[in-house]
Amino acid sequence: MTKVQFGVLGTSRVAEKSVMPAILSSEKSELGMIGSRNPEKAAEVAKKFGCDSFGTYEDVLRNKEIDAVYISLPPAFQEEWAIKAAEAGKHAYIEKPAATLYASAKRMVETARKNNVRLIEGLMFRYHPQNARAKELIREGVLGELLQFEGCFGFAMPEKETNMMRQEAGGGCLNYCGVYPIAASRMVFQEEPISVYCKLNIDAESGVDTETRILLEFSGGKTAFASSYFGSYYQSTYAVLGTKAHIRMKRAYAVPSNMETKMFLDKDDKVEEIVFPPADHFRLMIDEFCEEIAKGAASEKDYEGDVLGQARALQAVKLSGKEGRVVNLLEVE
Ligand SMILES: NC(=O)c1ccc[n+]([C@@H]2O[C@H](COP(=O)([O-])OP(=O)(O)OC[C@H]3O[C@@H](n4cnc5c(N)ncnc54)[C@H](OP(=O)(O)O)[C@@H]3O)[C@@H](O)[C@H]2O)c1
Repeated sequence: MTKVQFGVLGTSRVAEKSVMPAILSSEKSELGMIGSRNPEKAAEVAKKFGCDSFGTYEDVLRNKEIDAVYISLPPAFQEEWAIKAAEAGKHAYIEKPAATLYASAKRMVETARKNNVRLIEGLMFRYHPQNARAKELIREGVLGELLQFEGCFGFAMPEKETNMMRQEAGGGCLNYCGVYPIAASRMVFQEEPISVYCKLNIDAESGVDTETRILLEFSGGKTAFASSYFGSYYQSTYAVLGTKAHIRMKRAYAVPSNMETKMFLDKDDKVEEIVFPPADHFRLMIDEFCEEIAKGAASEKDYEGDVLGQARALQAVKLSGKEGRVVNLLEVE
């Protein structure tokens, strides 16, 4: 298999800390070019990662050697570049949230399909082996019938100058944090929610949401509670309750590649600690994405359907938060 040549759009912190190292460590990809709005920054980052090609975002899209791009921009700017990338014939790994509105996700997916390129959302945590184990326990019936999901991602209040606190950049804890427990509930139940109710707390000064509490209804009365906070004690967890057992992840979303993780399986009045050795979920996701790109039309992974499902849930949550009522997913078109 020839290695997928990745170009980077946006020298964000996560790009430098996690994704570029993962592209370099994968045996299926190479770091082909760095793109930044600032040419000096592009050169500096390229040098740091031993990459000899750099330029603007447009330069990356014009580069015929580049097969795929990693788009790492604030949420409000991702759609524009995802569409430009697809039109330039590049596959795209787009940071979460790939789209903050369903209509935006539809435009992105439509353009990707028209141009015969793949598009994946960077919800990398799903590739950590601990989730494969959780899904296995569910599939084997160890948890019994599923009843409820509970997930939370929260951390200290970000600095005012960061994109997380800028309304015009698509900041706010729902876009930056809440998307993880929402995606985890969809992953655990293996289906899309029917309706959602959301309570948002808006910071008066910045205008962004800093607390989001979401109730999602799934089929058969299954329920998820997904919350996220700017300004909380650190949380990165999810738990699943079934008729026969309960599981809880100690560290579910932002898992450093050198960190051992644990799952607690509570069954028959005994708590079993299942330990997972360190794993790089970014690299595991890149490995799979490259393999699926290589398969072409034979790929059976529905990355694009997943982008649509996540964006639809996210938009329903936003509508509920704004209007203070339960929103049925069918209302979001
Ligand atoms: N998967 C994860 O673990 C993880 C972690 C953190 C963040 N994220 C996601 O990654 C994305 C970026 O996160 P962030 O915003 O916190 O990153 P950031 O470190 O603030 O960097 C964002 C980058 O976007 C580029 N950019 C383009 N237009 C911009 C504008 N108008 N204003 C500011 N930056 C602009 C800049 O790159 P250039 O200057 O090089 O053009 C900048 O370095 C978000 O979608 C976020 O949700 C994912």
